Amino acid sequence: MYYPDELVEEVRSRNDIVDVISSYVKLQKKGGTYFGLCPFHNEKTPSFSVTPGKQMYYCFGCGAGGNVITFLMEYENYTFREALESLAERAGVELPKGEESAEARRQADLRSRILEANKEAGRYFYYQLKGPGGKRAYEYLTGRGLTEETIRRFGIGYSNMYSDDLYRYLKKKGFPDEILKESGLVKIGERGAHDRFWNRAMFPIMDANGKIIGFGGRVMGEGEPKYLNSPETRVFDKSRNLYGLNYARTARKPYMLLCEGYMDVISMHQAGFTNAVASLGTAFTPGHANLLRRYTEQAVLTYDSDGAGVKAALRAIPILKEAGISAKVLNLKPYKDPDEFIKALGREAFEERIGQAKNSFLFETDVLYGQYDMGDPEQKTAFHNALAGKLLQFTERLERENYMEAAARQYLIDYDSLKSLVNAMGGRLGPGNGPGRAAGRTEKKEKPDGIRQSQKILLTWLIEDERVYPAVKGILSPEDFTEELYRRAAGMVYEGLEAGSLSPADILNHFINDEDEYKEVASLFNTSLSELSKEEREKAFAETVKRVKRHSLEEKIRNVTDISLLQTLMKEQAGINGLHISLN
Ligand code: UTP
Ligand code: MN
Repeated sequence: MYYPDELVEEVRSRNDIVDVISSYVKLQKKGGTYFGLCPFHNEKTPSFSVTPGKQMYYCFGCGAGGNVITFLMEYENYTFREALESLAERAGVELPKGEESAEARRQADLRSRILEANKEAGRYFYYQLKGPGGKRAYEYLTGRGLTEETIRRFGIGYSNMYSDDLYRYLKKKGFPDEILKESGLVKIGERGAHDRFWNRAMFPIMDANGKIIGFGGRVMGEGEPKYLNSPETRVFDKSRNLYGLNYARTARKPYMLLCEGYMDVISMHQAGFTNAVASLGTAFTPGHANLLRRYTEQAVLTYDSDGAGVKAALRAIPILKEAGISAKVLNLKPYKDPDEFIKALGREAFEERIGQAKNSFLFETDVLYGQYDMGDPEQKTAFHNALAGKLLQFTERLERENYMEAAARQYLIDYDSLKSLVNAMGGRLGPGNGPGRAAGRTEKKEKPDGIRQSQKILLTWLIEDERVYPAVKGILSPEDFTEELYRRAAGMVYEGLEAGSLSPADILNHFINDEDEYKEVASLFNTSLSELSKEEREKAFAETVKRVKRHSLEEKIRNVTDISLLQTLMKEQAGINGLHISLN
């Protein structure tokens, strides 16, 4: 569905961001900016800011940021369209109802109708659990140690013995077959409609905002499958939702506990560890990790202590790392899972284990250690070699040495011997390999990151400080921003500045279809300028401009084929250091 930019902009500009966000978050004015507790991550002191001048919000703590539309998208879990419609209605802006939009509207309606059906079903299951037919299920749950309060909090219910009563109930509530089929609650075939869930304890799966997006149904006692889950639907994407996150996100703890199952999450929450979430049956994905990263930088893995759990942990660690989350691994032995552990030893013992959770690298090397027979000199040597090889992954010298120290201690290896083994191995792999290579590679890797950063800072300055544009426009054009995203943003920023009407919130609308992009662009408008002295500022400014220019020229020179153009570019390159770049 496509609404013209002008219309989107009209809807946005007619909804004041402070008004809208105030109805969700308590805001306090400090100078020209409003502050409050961030609704997107746990925090005790406000780092969530709303700037009326820019009509933007930004959280310095978690990086959430955007305009009034993205706020609703994130907070209410709305699609772009839903957010726009809600804001249009709020401001009394009429949206066209073209043919195309009728189809899109149908899609959006479908989503919200499925959510409604899920909500009704959740109520129904809960009601069944409390009724006479639910007695056995209720006893099953309380028999597993769940309190009445926990059952209510997680909305646990029961799907009874009839094969189509939920279907009939929801039909009576006015839901058409199409919705019920799409919700995954009902299967409709030649032989009529049948409820998917039947004689199971029902666990509603909620998204971060507490909306029921699916269910898991546990068989009473033994049976296959043990848990039957809703299929993926328009509202249920298994690789992007974490069970328990709706509560965990406000747990106000610096880390999250990551586990495998429904009962693990519930037991942990009941024992007071309300920062526990589970990826539920499916393997942990980058989607899960990115979701988690919005709320925390640290995860403690509490996977089952069996082989499958260890494997799952080994798979999750690099995925977490990639998303910027550091991991530790909790040892549950001799118990199988957190549920059993807590039942057997209680909350203090669990707390203690959290404190003892193992650094993920040492967890990995422990697993490695287990694969060798240390009584056999040959295997022992092979382990040392494998360990040294793994230590080479740390490209920072100091970090590598810290890990060498820890590993030497852990496996009773002489530190100096381990160090020379690591160095020899790095050397043997030749320059460009091992620690030597590692260092070389970091440098290469850091460069694009550094240039990204420079381009980003410069864009921020362009937006923040009116003196910047006149000082750079003769030197840099939007094309000199070599990062594709920044180049597009720069184009719009330049255009806005040239026209004398820069509207950050408007620019952001152009990036709204890609969550990662709009976050990145949103942060441009909010990175607070460092409190530099006048001199420092001049220096940083001049160096940043030169850096961006130099990089842009290097790229051009690398790709140029025309010799006279090459000469021009090289001349320009030689002149960079002589450029007069100043804010005054
Ligand atoms: P487990 O088999 O470890 O279950 O599967 P559990 O959580 O210990 O279950 P209880 O304690 O016996 O009730 C871990 C998770 O894998 C998913 C579920 O999310 C479960 O919580 N799973 C497991 C399924 O989706 N389907 C299955 O058949 C089994
Ligand atoms: Mn279990």
